[in-house]
Amino acid sequence: MSNVVVVGAQWGDEGKGRLVDWLAGEADIVARYNGGHNAGHTLVVDGKTYKLALLPSGLVRGKCGVIGNGVALDPEALLAEIARMEQLGLTVTPDNLAIAANATLVLPIHRAVDLAQEKLRREPIGTTLRGIGPAYEDKVGRRGLRVCDLAEPDLLAKKLDALLDYRNAWFKGLGLDGFSRDSMLPMLRDIAPRVLRFVRPVWAYLNEASDEGKKILFEGSQAVMLDVDWGSYPYVTSSSTIASAAATGTGLGASRLGHVLGVTKAYATRVGEGPFPTELQNEIGAMLRDRGREFGVNTGRPRRCGWLDGAQLRQSVKVSGIDSLALTKLDVLDGLDFIDICVGYEINGQRTDFLPASLAAQSRAKPVYERFMGWSQPVKGQKRFSDLPREARDFVKRVEVIAGAPLSLITTGPERNDTIVLHDPFEI
Ligand code: GDP
Ligand code: IMO
Ligand code: MG
Repeated sequence: MSNVVVVGAQWGDEGKGRLVDWLAGEADIVARYNGGHNAGHTLVVDGKTYKLALLPSGLVRGKCGVIGNGVALDPEALLAEIARMEQLGLTVTPDNLAIAANATLVLPIHRAVDLAQEKLRREPIGTTLRGIGPAYEDKVGRRGLRVCDLAEPDLLAKKLDALLDYRNAWFKGLGLDGFSRDSMLPMLRDIAPRVLRFVRPVWAYLNEASDEGKKILFEGSQAVMLDVDWGSYPYVTSSSTIASAAATGTGLGASRLGHVLGVTKAYATRVGEGPFPTELQNEIGAMLRDRGREFGVNTGRPRRCGWLDGAQLRQSVKVSGIDSLALTKLDVLDGLDFIDICVGYEINGQRTDFLPASLAAQSRAKPVYERFMGWSQPVKGQKRFSDLPREARDFVKRVEVIAGAPLSLITTGPERNDTIVLHDPFEI
């Protein structure tokens, strides 16, 4: 029996949420460990769509959800999302949601900093403007507020004053309005009991559950190419998004994480700025955006689209320790005459099979493609590998070789059951 960590292997939005929902059928607990409500995870179950940002996707299956210490938690966004999910028929109580006492808080001041920083940048990152980056800055700057501080009114006021001293100096220097303690403290004191009811020592809960043989599913947000170390820095998010973050972000030790399932689309997308070697700024890119409905879950921004970058995927497999891959949205390629996969790059006339760290080199990387025949029979909605057209099976088999990891799941539509199972990640 093992746990499973689900991680994005590209630039995010690979379909992690829908796979977590599928796998949650077998899990006891679903835990978020990084990011915040910059994430947008979509589940479609019997025609009903759930868009989750902070809440673990396993709640839709009635499983226990955990928000780990690695998450940047905006308490207002959390309560609003709980209200939204309750309208869709879910109930969220302390029996099915546990929040780590040591998770970092995202406050209105962080949203204001995010917006001001983006306006100031000569080359904006295209963040989600949710305040996630500035909240993580305060965490590592050792002046952040944490969930447990909500239970200590005097300490909360003192820590807030210190944070405002620091941040308001920055606002003042730019001639911008700062924040006052009086505008923030009443909101925090009002919200405190509604958040504190969910608080538990998550690390102990997960360790005990694991000792009892329960299955834990870790739900990653973002993806390897948005990782603060491994992504196309500085066009990244501000947290560690690779599988090992599931340990630091929950308190279950690295040796107990289990199988790492990387999720990749059958093509590639990116939302926000930054290098994207296989981007297609042509009618094929527009077709992928249209057929794949490639628009941000939270911000509605159009996603940039391109061919699958197999060289980047191979790199993700290594740095994130991916044991097997789930290939999503194969149906979006239905009807194409041909499909390309990038197998390496040419940079300054030199062939290389990985993306170097330098942003300048990444921006200059020209993809080297391998071309595949498209298929005429649709794969949409197919549930068995043997029912896929031969060209689609050839494509999928080649992805395994190029990526250097076996495929365990393939999805052929957004519905929960539009899923082909090659190997069950909980059983590998
Ligand atoms: P996540 O952030 O990784 O959870 O992914 P998102 O939810 O942001 O984006 C994935 C989008 O693709 C959602 O709109 C899903 O409903 C949709 N989707 C997921 N899997 C498939 C699939 O196999 N086929 C199609 N057509 N859509 C899919
Ligand atoms: P899920 O979990 C896709 C991108 C933003 C921006 C960069 C930094 O749904 O895959 P941030 O607000 O985090 O400081 O933005 O990261 N980004 C995502 N792109 N999917 C996500 O999450 C993302 N979360 C952040 O667009 O380029
Ligand atoms: Mg998403």
